[in-house]
Amino acid sequence: MSSPSPTEDSAARPAQAAVSVRDVTKSYGGRKAVDGVSLDVRRGEFFGLLGPNGAGKSTLVEIMEGLRKADSGSVAVFGEAPWPRNTALLPRMGVQTQSSAFFVRQTVHEHLRTVAALFGAESAAVDATLDAVGLGGRHDVRVDDLSGGQRQRLAIASALVHGPELIFLDEPTAALDTEGRRDLWEVLRGLKEQGRTIVYTTHHLDEAEALCDRVAILVAGRLVVTDEPQHLIGTFGATSRLLVPLGRIDEERAAALPGVEAVSVRGGHLVLETRATGRVLAALDAVAGLDGVQTRTPSLEDVYLDITGRRADTAEENQEQQA
Ligand SMILES: Nc1ncnc2c1ncn2[C@@H]1O[C@H](COP(=O)(O)OP(=O)(O)OP(=O)(O)O)[C@@H](O)[C@H]1O
Ligand SMILES: [Mg+2]
Repeated sequence: MSSPSPTEDSAARPAQAAVSVRDVTKSYGGRKAVDGVSLDVRRGEFFGLLGPNGAGKSTLVEIMEGLRKADSGSVAVFGEAPWPRNTALLPRMGVQTQSSAFFVRQTVHEHLRTVAALFGAESAAVDATLDAVGLGGRHDVRVDDLSGGQRQRLAIASALVHGPELIFLDEPTAALDTEGRRDLWEVLRGLKEQGRTIVYTTHHLDEAEALCDRVAILVAGRLVVTDEPQHLIGTFGATSRLLVPLGRIDEERAAALPGVEAVSVRGGHLVLETRATGRVLAALDAVAGLDGVQTRTPSLEDVYLDITGRRADTAEENQEQQA
């Protein structure tokens, strides 16, 4: 018996993985949309997939869902291959794609009843799911007549109505208003508490930070990092910012305070960047006082912008070198 290559299905996959991706590549024309990606989504995990437009997130997610075929590499969902269309997996997965399809001539309630029936879900789940996504009052509206955000809510409902164990949501909050976004967070937190696994793409970094156990960042088809948001923020060494009202201390003097790494002027404030907040606050207190001084701790967005900005530069350099 020959030993298995790491890209075969016999590759080591953690038993607790809901989704396991090994060395997956997908090209369109000559261009790699997904380039050698490996990752594991654990059961019960809220897993975020982040990256700029065109990074390959939807392509990768659709390969996990069994909607697209990888050129090479392998995917296992609950230990089974999702491609070719695996009907045993369908009831266990809920899928909301970026371009979800609807039965447009039906009403909201008819649409979701149809989806529920396809998956053999109970009809009681239809009303409960419409309530959960804030469409409780829109049962009899034709899908055609929904607003963009309401359609998005219906797409999310269609992914949830049959109570799947594994839920894929591709930018579910893109068209939602602020309230709808927060309501969805609560719904998703509830699903996570029930032990469901959620794979989630978003451009809202605050959302990823608030919801995700781990995030993976894709840039130009390649996985740059997979980590817990707080760990990423901590280890990446992003700076905190202290906002000092203008006129309190001049730029030169602020830049000379111990621990200050950079100083800029923004929106009526002098912005001091530092990795030693306590030290700078103490020094500032001694020379200018702390009245009106605000502290901004680093967020996932800071780290994300740093990573994707840098990597985008590198990708551009690589492409220029190849050209
Ligand atoms: N069906 C297709 N045919 C040809 N190229 C495609 C197709 N789908 C995606 N691509 C290309 O693959 C790359 C990755 O696209 P993908 O939709 O996966 O990105 P994304 O990270 O989801 O972006 P976004 O944040 O805009 O949704 C892009 O360059 C895109 O133009
Ligand atoms: Mg996408």
